[in-house]
Amino acid sequence: MKIFIDTADLDEIKELASWGIIDGVTTNPTLVAKTGRSFNEIIEEIFKIVDGPISLEVVSEKADDMVKEAKQLVSKVSEKYRKNVAIKIPMTSEGLKAVKQLSKMGIKTNVTLVFSANQALLAAKAGATYVSPFIGRLDDIGQEGMQIVEEIMEIFCNYDIETEVIVASIRHPIHVIQAARIGADIATVPPSVLRKMVKHSLTDVGIKRFLEDWEKVKK
Ligand code: G3P
Repeated sequence: MKIFIDTADLDEIKELASWGIIDGVTTNPTLVAKTGRSFNEIIEEIFKIVDGPISLEVVSEKADDMVKEAKQLVSKVSEKYRKNVAIKIPMTSEGLKAVKQLSKMGIKTNVTLVFSANQALLAAKAGATYVSPFIGRLDDIGQEGMQIVEEIMEIFCNYDIETEVIVASIRHPIHVIQAARIGADIATVPPSVLRKMVKHSLTDVGIKRFLEDWEKVKK
């Protein structure tokens, strides 16, 4: 399973990319706002750090405006990095129209705010490169989020659909294990969850004991 980092925080992206486990980045307007920095300032930097798909979200609501905005976003990125741009489009009927147009232009799309397998199927039919089911937000309202990932994977597998599934709105390490067990293509993981994934108290205890015992060895 590919692991994307779900943040626009450059320091976090730099640090976690240095672990050698990051295949891409997803951002959204909320994550960009949290950085307190300007979007233009951040974009180029992210592309320099991670050589993989980087999702940038449009905020327009009409298909033609989304397409125009998507093209503007692509043009903000230096030519050498453009192959990595994926435009995040919200899952609406206008969004589907935009995805269709962008896919014809060869611009990668990531259909976001997906909360059902039907939405994912329609996004794939429109030509989405990625679909992003938001599982944590479903869990929040008492619906089992991971269930829709299972349904989407089954449907995409039935028809050899090439659209990749990005499990998003991940809240804890168990979500990542569940996504991997289902066989999702990608999990986009917040930095805090990646830090929890790397840790185990027995690893810490083990290192401490090895260091103490090494002190006892004649050198
Ligand atoms: O990519 C954005 C998505 O992961 C949102 O997560 O925690 O705001 O539901 P959250």
